[in-house]
Amino acid sequence: MKPRLLSGIQPSGKLHLGNYLGALKNFVDLQNSGKYECYFFIADLHSLTEEFNPKEKSKQVLELMADFLAAGLDPKKSVIFQQSQIPAHSELAFILNTLTPMGELERMTQFKDKSLNPNTPSSKAIEQSSNRTSPNVGLFTYPTLMAADIILYDAKFVPTGDDQDQHLELTRTLVRKFNSKFPARRSLGEGGGNPFIEPQGLHTDIPRVMSLGDPLKKMSKSKPETCLFIDDSPEVIESKIKRAVTDSDSVVKFDPDKKPAISNLLKIYSSLSGQSVKELEHDFSGKTYSDFKSSLAKLVVDHFSKYRAKKKSLLAKPKSLALSLNTGSKKAAKVAEKKMAEVKKKIGLAL
Ligand code: ADP
Ligand code: TRP
Repeated sequence: MKPRLLSGIQPSGKLHLGNYLGALKNFVDLQNSGKYECYFFIADLHSLTEEFNPKEKSKQVLELMADFLAAGLDPKKSVIFQQSQIPAHSELAFILNTLTPMGELERMTQFKDKSLNPNTPSSKAIEQSSNRTSPNVGLFTYPTLMAADIILYDAKFVPTGDDQDQHLELTRTLVRKFNSKFPARRSLGEGGGNPFIEPQGLHTDIPRVMSLGDPLKKMSKSKPETCLFIDDSPEVIESKIKRAVTDSDSVVKFDPDKKPAISNLLKIYSSLSGQSVKELEHDFSGKTYSDFKSSLAKLVVDHFSKYRAKKKSLLAKPKSLALSLNTGSKKAAKVAEKKMAEVKKKIGLAL
């Protein structure tokens, strides 16, 4: 049997190059390798932890489905589903919450970063009323929901960008805790079931795409002007790349410590073109940053032109996108419900 692989992305706006090169492109490659049984999902519950407009949410879900398909995910090869359609995710997350000390969640960097972000709903409301920020509880328990997502499907491999490593580490800790607190008791005839599996992260060779405005910070949609969205028009892509910060000299050379800006651009170039960084250094020796940037802009524009056209045609048929996602959700629900029944037996909730 092939090992299971699972990952999710939040439907919270447009995808950027970091999401694509750190995650989505890899999903497609892993799916097409034929080595895994693949599950990919739209983490819509997770996306509620940030400010959102209910009128937009279902559009964002369908848009992400269109992104998945335009990038090359294929419902015939992978189960593609919507998290909120499967109640077992929230159910298992609550059970995992009871095994998680508050301290473990308090030290999560994503929680610390996002609770400082005024876009999270409760921080905004509270800020207005009392000038104090207090992040919402959903943001606090975000990692236990993510652990539930993974554990429900016995996923062995989880491809993500490296910002999710800490959440995966927590998932492994929870797996060990659960397995030792509720060991298999098949021998006692008490419906032991299989122990949870410790998941392993999978990274691309560019697990952290850096911002075009500050090569020491992660590219993130919170700063749209320094972030390349896949849907940006060719003009916007050209202008953003042209304005990207560069290092002090003008030699196109890979040196992440001394030349972090051009090194980030070189990695992006290499990842999209399939050429090695060494080859690129050779091709651009004696050329200027400006030459390099023009060539990179053309590469990005060309790379996503088919993607954009395919996405547009998929979005023209929202019903068929919804149907395909619902079919995937039904398939995933069967697996999740089975696991949840096993969990309930183990912890003594099944009568
Ligand atoms: P964002 O981080 O932009 O809010 P998500 O949390 O939905 O987006 O992330 C979706 C996937 O993209 C995750 O696997 C995440 O690790 C990856 N990712 C996000 N930003 C980057 C980045 N700058 N470089 C590499 N991968 C990234
Ligand atoms: N937390 C992930 C992110 O921000 C999204 C996500 C939710 C996820 N559940 C997951 C990724 C389970 C992998 C596995 O990108």
